[in-house]
Amino acid sequence: MMFLVSSSMGLQIGQSTGPTRRAVIGGAGAAFVSNFAFPPLPAFAADVDTAAIMKAKAGLQALIDKDPDFGPTMVRLAWHSSGTYDKIAKNGGSQGGTIRFKEELAHGGNAGLDKAVARLEPLKAELGDAVSYADLFTLAGVVAISQNGGPQIPWKAGRKDQDVAAVTPNGRLPDADKNKGMKTNADHLRSIFYRMGFDDREIVALSGAHALGRCHPDASGYDGPWSPTPTTLNNVYFSSLIYLPWTIRDWKGPEQYEDPSGKLMMLPSDIALIHDKSFLKYVKMYAKQPDAFRADFTAAFQKLEENGTKNLKPVDIWA
Ligand code: HEM
Repeated sequence: MMFLVSSSMGLQIGQSTGPTRRAVIGGAGAAFVSNFAFPPLPAFAADVDTAAIMKAKAGLQALIDKDPDFGPTMVRLAWHSSGTYDKIAKNGGSQGGTIRFKEELAHGGNAGLDKAVARLEPLKAELGDAVSYADLFTLAGVVAISQNGGPQIPWKAGRKDQDVAAVTPNGRLPDADKNKGMKTNADHLRSIFYRMGFDDREIVALSGAHALGRCHPDASGYDGPWSPTPTTLNNVYFSSLIYLPWTIRDWKGPEQYEDPSGKLMMLPSDIALIHDKSFLKYVKMYAKQPDAFRADFTAAFQKLEENGTKNLKPVDIWA
C-alpha cells in the first residue's frame, strides 16, 4: 500500500512499513496529516528518457555478449563509482559519475578501470546527454549482474554528472590487504563500509559479487578468479570460502590465497570474512541459503547504487 509520509525533506511516497506508518498516522502525525495543506511532491528527475535508457541497456548487453569477461568488470565499475559515498560528509557515491575523470581513476583501488570507462565511451557518445555517465555506470552494474545469472535489481534514473571538483579523496575504497593480519583487514572493511551506511550482513552479501570475474596482474596485481564459473553470480563464493582449505600462494606477487587445485584464489580481505565471528555467521548462512544471498545482495546493491543520490525516478528496465 502506498502512503504519504512527512519528513524534513518534504513529502515522499513510500511503501507502508510498520513504525514509519504508525509514526505518521498516529498521534501528532494525525493532526499534521489532517490540518496541513500539502506542498507539491518533490520533483522527480525531470525528463528521464526511458527510450534512451533501454537503448543503453541493449548497448551494454551487446558489449557483454561480445566479451563475457567485460560483464564482471562492469559490476566492479558500478561498485567503485558508488563506493566513495560518505554518509557523514554527504558526498561521493554514484551521483556525479566522477569515476570518468582521470583524477579518480588514478586512485589505487581503481587500477584497470580506466580501460572499462574507455570501452563505454562509444556507447555514451551514441546516447549523448540523454543518459548521464552516472546513470550509465550504475545501469552497467545491474545489467551485467542480470546477464551473469544474478537477480534483476531495481534501478532508478536521473543522476546528474558533476565536474571534477566532486571527485572525493583517494582512500575511500577498501584495500585487499592492510598487511597487519586478518583482524586489521576485518576492521578496515568495517570502517570503509560503515562509512557508506552498511552493516556486517550487507558487507558479506556485497562481497559475494566476487563469484564474478577475476583479478588481473596488470590491474590490482592479484591473479585469478574466485570461482570456476566467473560469469555466473551464485553463492559459490561463500561455499568455497568455508569448504575449501585455503593456503597462501607461493609466488612473486602480493599475498593471496589458493585452493588445492591452484586454480582459484581469495584475497586477504576475502579470507578476513571467515576469521571474524560476525562476518563468518553470514558467510555460513549464504553458503547454505542461496535465496537469502540473492535477496540480500539485491537490496544491498541497490542501496549501494543509490547512496547519496537525489530525486531518482524508478525505471522498469526489466519489463
Ligand atoms: C570487500 C572489499 C573488496 C575488496 C578489497 C575488493 C578487491 C578487489 C580486487 C583487488 C579485485 C581485482 C581487480 C583486478 O585486478 O582487475 C576485485 C575485482 C572485482 N570486484 Fe571486488 N573488492 C571488494 C568488494 C567488492 C564488492 C562490494 C563488489 C560488488 C558488489 C565487488 C565486485 C568485484 C568484481 C565483479 C570484480 C571482478 C572484476 C573483473 O573481473 O574485471 N568487489 N575486487
